[in-house]
Amino acid sequence: MNKSKRSKIKEILQRGEVQSEVSVMGWVRTRRDSKGGFSFLEINDGSCLSNLQVISDHNIDGFQSVSEKLHTGSCVGVTGKLVPSQGKGQSVELQAVSIKVYGEANPEQYPLQKKQHSFEFLREIAHLRPRTNTFGAVMRVRNRLAYSIHNFFQDRGFVYLHTPIITTSDCEGAGEMFQVTTLDPESPPMADGKIDYGQDFFGEKTSLTVSGQLEGEVYAMALSEIYTFGPTFRAENSNTSRHLSEFWMVEPEMAFYDLEDDMNLAEDFLRYLFKDVLEHCQEDLEFFNKRIDKTILERHRGIVENNFERIPYSEAIHVLEKSNKNFVYSVEWGCNLQSEHERYLSEDVFKKPVIIFNYPDEIKPFYMKANEGGETVCAMDVLLPKLGEIIGGSQREDDYEVLKKRMKAKELDTEHYQWYLDLRRFGTAPHAGFGLGFERLVQFVTGMENIRDVIPFPRTPKHARF
Ligand code: 4AD
Ligand code: MG
Repeated sequence: MNKSKRSKIKEILQRGEVQSEVSVMGWVRTRRDSKGGFSFLEINDGSCLSNLQVISDHNIDGFQSVSEKLHTGSCVGVTGKLVPSQGKGQSVELQAVSIKVYGEANPEQYPLQKKQHSFEFLREIAHLRPRTNTFGAVMRVRNRLAYSIHNFFQDRGFVYLHTPIITTSDCEGAGEMFQVTTLDPESPPMADGKIDYGQDFFGEKTSLTVSGQLEGEVYAMALSEIYTFGPTFRAENSNTSRHLSEFWMVEPEMAFYDLEDDMNLAEDFLRYLFKDVLEHCQEDLEFFNKRIDKTILERHRGIVENNFERIPYSEAIHVLEKSNKNFVYSVEWGCNLQSEHERYLSEDVFKKPVIIFNYPDEIKPFYMKANEGGETVCAMDVLLPKLGEIIGGSQREDDYEVLKKRMKAKELDTEHYQWYLDLRRFGTAPHAGFGLGFERLVQFVTGMENIRDVIPFPRTPKHARF
């Protein structure tokens, strides 16, 4: 295999120049034969959305022996000459001199024969769906967003921090954790009628993390500004189009930031990401705008150009109460905002991203800083039209006694979290941070309806095989 001479289709089409010898490798999307003794192949190698058209004269060396293996789905290497294209939409096409088939795909069995398949069907063949236009485009956009997240923070001097996956703390306090154990589930060791986790691998009960925040705070109290970007797990039994059991979260944590600084950073961050993706994923976004949601390009440009709306929770409740809309979940001060409420505010009322801040203490986790009076905490959520919550963040409680009291009120074992409390004992500092759901971001940018279609292998209730 002469890989050194291989050209990616993206480069060939971008350059659009004729060339005497070039090799491409990829998968056949379609094959069509003409009466005049020619075959037309559309080849895709994943480097871009577009295929390269290959024309092969049936008289070239070895064509007869490969012809019966050339089908939709076959993997091929083609060497030939780039010539000006006869067809529209493409500057050049490849005139084959030799064709090699690396792998056949029996047309009777290869599942991706049709031009269009439903996303539900494609989820059943998650191992083959990257070969479709939509999933190729989603993964290229996802890749660019990940790259641009690192660029944003690295340019601002944030330190990329790897927080642990296995943990003993429940950061969000929702009890939605997947347990990690090496104990025999059939006959675990018992002590006083309860499972004796002292005999488990780590000597206590452990789980997969729901957030890297608590460990992130530790490092922000030394390095000033850090961010995590890693897998997060929630055993929440919600079968919605916006929830995964395993998802990726980006969590910046900053010393010397208050809630307003936190909101400013979140807003700058999102605008930066949209601007970057509009610039670097043009072909893929145009595809989504045509095929998935005709409003995304316009919406993204609007986000880049306009400020977000910011309103306190109490005011948001007021707006919802006087809306006279028939929500499934009724609204009153103290309630958790549901996706229908979040979407109504950002989609119908403000028609742009909205940041809601100062939520009731009752509905938020223990670590958030109490506002004066103690009824509300310095929390903020960023809501996007069509999606709802994409970011959740807060200023953290930095006073030892206040935090300890809050933990007790929320029934946390303060001894267990002494390491976290210690940050407030030794050189405490005001600090804040937020978490962005990476798949929700990809979902919003691409316009994909279901979050399961923006992650390579979705994990959801009753689904983890592939
Ligand atoms: O609002 P959440 O629960 O906040 C935290 O975990 C904080 N510790 C973050 C912080 O301040 N460092 O989660 C943050 C974001 C949500 O806004 C949402 O976008 C995403 O994570 N998210 C999910 N994404 C997919 N599937 C799920 N089950 C998700 N749960 C949360
Ligand atoms: Mg949240």
